[in-house]
Amino acid sequence: MVCLTIAATAAAPAEIERKIDALLARMTLEEKLGQMSQAGFGRLTDQRRAEIRKGRWGSLYGGGTPAEKAEAQQIALKESRLGIPLIYGQDVIHGLQTTFPIPLGQAASWDPELVRQSARIAAREASAAGIHWTFSPMVDIARDPRWGRVAEGYGEDPYVAAAMAAAMVRGYQGETLDAADSIAACAKHYVGYGAAEGGRDYNTTWIPENLLREVYLKPFRAAKDAGIATYMSAFNNINGVPASGNEFTLRQVLRDEWKFDGFVVSDYTAVHELIAHGYAADAKDAAFKAIRAGVNMEMVSTDYWDNGKALVDAKQLDVKTIDEAVREILRIKFRLGLFDGRTQPVPSGAQAPSAEALAAANKLAAESLVLLKNDGALPMAKSVGKVAIVGFLADSPRDQSGTWANGSAGTVTPLAAFRQALGESRVLYARGLRNGSDTSRDGFAAAVEAARAADVVLLFLGEEASLSGEASSRAFLNLPGLQEDLAAEVAKAGKPCVAVILAGRPTTFHDVADKMKAVLYAWHPGAMGGPAIASAILGDAVPSGKLTITFPRTVGQVPIYYNHLNTGRPPAAQEKFTSKYLDVSFTPEYPFGYGLSYSKFEYSATKASAPQVKVGGKLTFSADVANVGAVEADEVVQFYTRQLAGSVARPVRELKGFQRLHLKPGEKRAVTFTLSTDDLASYNPQMKLATDPGAFEAWIAPDSASGEKIEFAVVR
Ligand code: GLC
Repeated sequence: MVCLTIAATAAAPAEIERKIDALLARMTLEEKLGQMSQAGFGRLTDQRRAEIRKGRWGSLYGGGTPAEKAEAQQIALKESRLGIPLIYGQDVIHGLQTTFPIPLGQAASWDPELVRQSARIAAREASAAGIHWTFSPMVDIARDPRWGRVAEGYGEDPYVAAAMAAAMVRGYQGETLDAADSIAACAKHYVGYGAAEGGRDYNTTWIPENLLREVYLKPFRAAKDAGIATYMSAFNNINGVPASGNEFTLRQVLRDEWKFDGFVVSDYTAVHELIAHGYAADAKDAAFKAIRAGVNMEMVSTDYWDNGKALVDAKQLDVKTIDEAVREILRIKFRLGLFDGRTQPVPSGAQAPSAEALAAANKLAAESLVLLKNDGALPMAKSVGKVAIVGFLADSPRDQSGTWANGSAGTVTPLAAFRQALGESRVLYARGLRNGSDTSRDGFAAAVEAARAADVVLLFLGEEASLSGEASSRAFLNLPGLQEDLAAEVAKAGKPCVAVILAGRPTTFHDVADKMKAVLYAWHPGAMGGPAIASAILGDAVPSGKLTITFPRTVGQVPIYYNHLNTGRPPAAQEKFTSKYLDVSFTPEYPFGYGLSYSKFEYSATKASAPQVKVGGKLTFSADVANVGAVEADEVVQFYTRQLAGSVARPVRELKGFQRLHLKPGEKRAVTFTLSTDDLASYNPQMKLATDPGAFEAWIAPDSASGEKIEFAVVR
């Protein structure tokens, strides 16, 4: 084990600024442009060693063994002219050695503390591997499940996404950034990337400023308030100006309004892509516009290095702008303790996930499971007899890890977990299909035979990991390939069927669900997805997950989301001339916030502490929640409000709070939410954030489509 053994003692802010001033005064323009350049690491070649000695790179990302990282850092600290350390970045999105559920699944837990713990474990594993900085959390709001990257974020709601963003930042960055097991976080992709037209990745976004501020910016602001060290500028064009050249979002909002003092890295070649956007005339113009906008560091493309000097010599760029960009990079390097060569054990190879980490992954996977349908088939009695497990996703470690997984070490598949729980002889397994693109029905007969020989059937359906994540948009949301046909054939065997769906997005499976006694949505649940699913199915755990993204009945409804405006002709089934479709209901298959339990909860005594509140005041809302079922269970109680009239139309519901209750059978608990009128503020046409007096409604409810309405007023 090789250790970098210089004690990490980060300096106080003023001392850091003095050190940066002193460094900047000694740096050449070339060394400054080097700090603003990030390369993919690959392997530590002699050319790379020479470049590091010359100060060519401020950061390397995504590769290099831990030992190579240690050597490269020693070269930077000891052999470069000014000894400025490298900062190593990597995509640690939902775990490094230990793979947690994909973020969209984690969000369904509505458990920020558990999510924070997952980031803490990821930070420990990443820092031990010599990584200083993760390109996470991804906090893009997404209302279009055709977009493959919906998997990486926390869904459609800014309040949930903000809570998860803050949790992830605290988990990654720990108590102090310079602790040996802390890593810098990076809120991405700043901003609006999830609004890509047509759900097509990298596509154009048109986002009115009030929507940008009310929805897309909110989780990024939460990351700032949690003390995040960095942001990543996005690929997409926002209202005509690409995010990686956008002075409004990068300077006015991030710097002037939010006072962010860390640094911004571009997404992969996003600086150079300003040319393809039709925003920059050439590489020099791209460098100019990105630096002017406030992108501190260029990922992979080399327009800054190639053109920075010419821009300064031509007085197109003031060297002060360069200095400010470098200052913000150095500030994070100092805060991380990198100049003190922070103590980083450099393990010889990838460390296996610890038992503690796997237990945390199991718990988060369990809390992320969403029970969408249950006609009493679940929980399944352990005395059930023989269980037929059908579907390739029951036994695919790579797929259950999901997009951006750094490996599937320690993974336990559902098949293995059920064999462990019930014994090999009671579990009959048939893949049915080789994979999601298998067009052959050859495997159907064995699947039907297994169903006939069993007492109950578990059908594992969904998406392979390759259909999820970056550059993975789908025009359809159905279960890929012949999976629906497989489900139909297996159901004909006449045995009770339960569907377990693994996917990186909401999918449409109405006809399949009709044939199932129960449907459990497991997302891509990570390493411990198998034990978590088996525990839920067999009743050792009670599903409590709830959706943080709306599930459409069909892709034709997209975009469909709960916090929509009412329109002048809100949809009414019996009224022709209202906002709806002729050929499908206007309601979703499953609404935001929805999820069933093995128990049953009743909400009552919903009330506000007063019928009205003055602008500037507070109001408390309360309800009783009772577990009227037969088992102990968790319930995620949600708090929504609605403004009925004001200077701009507001959504029919907006989430303003949530609480997780654990209730024993028969137990009733009062739950309260305190609301200040500031929580009801919105951006008026003049972009002023203010709370309009007037009539409001509120709900304390199990999901966004139910609950008893409370009326109240805000008065001057
Ligand atoms: C990719 C992704 C971004 C990732 C970066 C580095 O293109 O858009 O999320 O962090 O490049 O891998």
